[in-house]
Amino acid sequence: VNVASPASHVLDELTVPIVLAPLAGGPSTPELAAAVANAGGLGFLGAGYLSGDALRERIVATRALTAGAIGVNVFVISGEASSPEVYSDYVDALGPDAGEPRFDDDAFDAKVDVLVSTPVPVVSFTFALPPARAVERLRAAGSEIWITVTTPEEARLAAEAGADALVLQGAEAGGHRGAFDDDTVPIALLPLLQMVHRQTTLPLVATGGIATPGAVAAVLDAGASAAAIGTAFMLAPEAGTSPAHRDAIASPTPTALTRAFTGKLARGIRNRFMDEHPDAPSSYPEIHYATAPIRAAARESGNADLINLWAGEAHQLAEARPAEEIVRALIPRE
Ligand SMILES: Cc1cc2nc3c(=O)[nH]c(=O)nc-3n(C[C@H](O)[C@H](O)[C@H](O)COP(=O)(O)O)c2cc1C
Repeated sequence: VNVASPASHVLDELTVPIVLAPLAGGPSTPELAAAVANAGGLGFLGAGYLSGDALRERIVATRALTAGAIGVNVFVISGEASSPEVYSDYVDALGPDAGEPRFDDDAFDAKVDVLVSTPVPVVSFTFALPPARAVERLRAAGSEIWITVTTPEEARLAAEAGADALVLQGAEAGGHRGAFDDDTVPIALLPLLQMVHRQTTLPLVATGGIATPGAVAAVLDAGASAAAIGTAFMLAPEAGTSPAHRDAIASPTPTALTRAFTGKLARGIRNRFMDEHPDAPSSYPEIHYATAPIRAAARESGNADLINLWAGEAHQLAEARPAEEIVRALIPRE
């Protein structure tokens, strides 16, 4: 049964069909979310890696900068801890600078509590279906529920779980795959959008590799209600993107999919660390914690060889200009 509401009111009310894709782990800031909202799009805060308190501070900071539409994206880490046999050889191979692998659920309950007491128009989930109880509580607080999916089957499950809109993440997308199962083969955005559009009446938000007004127009024409854009905002001054990451995004170096940094499949700009660890195990967030000190030191020293340079396939089209200008430049021509 599809218990979802028939339409997304937030999408209906946007003055431009542009969503800032959630960008946890640095690039996401209140300033970036507010700038996109002030330009008539939907601003997003990535809640990933934050404590509940830090999330509340960012929501309050964003609200001080915009009265426009904003959303918060939450990771759903549904599985259990991996057994050490899965990751111990890999962690040993990382050498003495590696951190302790450990499992946690990224403070899921604390984040839902914050979002119930400090509601935002949209709460989106990635990596798995959100628990029914969280969906009920957030909906009662007035939020729409969006779920990221990467296959027609995940779209069907998300509709059954009561999503108000589906975020369709194509293979082109930067950052972690939102797939419910880490072994899922990524599908390119246009095939995914065409297939899911055929099977559901839910509003669809297309994401992955979109960086020009022509690409926004293409996904709208293929059935999307809006385009969610990540990498094309990462050079904006409002973004928290690190200097080494900015340089890589501006370069023509191609991207690849990897588990080397976090134990979960993700797309980033190819670098030495990825090439040296082609067979990293699927074990999230254990590997994320094991590589965290290595990545932090590399960010500090500006060593792009050891940083997770998350970016979508069209990253060389990103422009270093204010986010409001980027939104305006993405609006499809009449
Ligand atoms: C640096 C970075 C961080 C990301 N963090 C998140 C996140 O926290 N939650 C999420 O659902 N998706 C995340 N993504 C994926 C984006 O939301 C989106 O799917 C992707 O950026 C779309 O492709 P594009 O980068 O080519 O526009 C991230 C992507 C990048 C590049």
